[in-house]
Amino acid sequence: MFPVVSQGRILALAAIAISLALGPISARLLGADETSSGSSDAYRRMVLMKGAWLFDRNCAFCHEKDGRGAVGPNLTDWYFIHGATRDDMHRVVQEGVPEKGMPTWKAILKPTDLRLIEHYVWSLRGKEVKGKEPQGEKCEPDVES
Ligand code: HEC
Repeated sequence: MFPVVSQGRILALAAIAISLALGPISARLLGADETSSGSSDAYRRMVLMKGAWLFDRNCAFCHEKDGRGAVGPNLTDWYFIHGATRDDMHRVVQEGVPEKGMPTWKAILKPTDLRLIEHYVWSLRGKEVKGKEPQGEKCEPDVES
């Protein structure tokens, strides 16, 4: 005979397991602390893959899938119109530049999706994909966020 386990208890255990699994993931995403020692390569790859997928659906129309630029600037060089730090990037993605055609993304996408996209955009810096000519100020690669 199998031990009788109530459905309620199974649900409670499942809920605990899920919150244990998701807790650290969302905490890390929202903290944007991708370099913390607890963060594995596999986890980082997963974040970048999801970010790339979201970028493809929302941003590639103007920046191209690989970030080389089209209507929007090339996101793979070391030139920035709106600044080179992580905060600068966060601000321009959130607020956009409506008068220049860059949408105000905080009004369109969920904060978690934007976090994922920002991780991907940050990872594009310095890939130097041949595309749109540099725009803005040149900043050294070691500029910290
Ligand atoms: C409809 C076209 C369009 C879409 C879609 C778009 N962008 Fe832009 N983006 C622009 C334009 C145009 C600029 C340049 C604004 C300026 O000249 O000030 C820009 C600028 C930027 C910059 C600043 C670059 C710099 O040199 O400082 C970042 C970062 C950026 N976009 C990220 C994104 C992300 C992430 C998405 C998707 C969530 C996105 N963009 C979607 C048109 C677009």
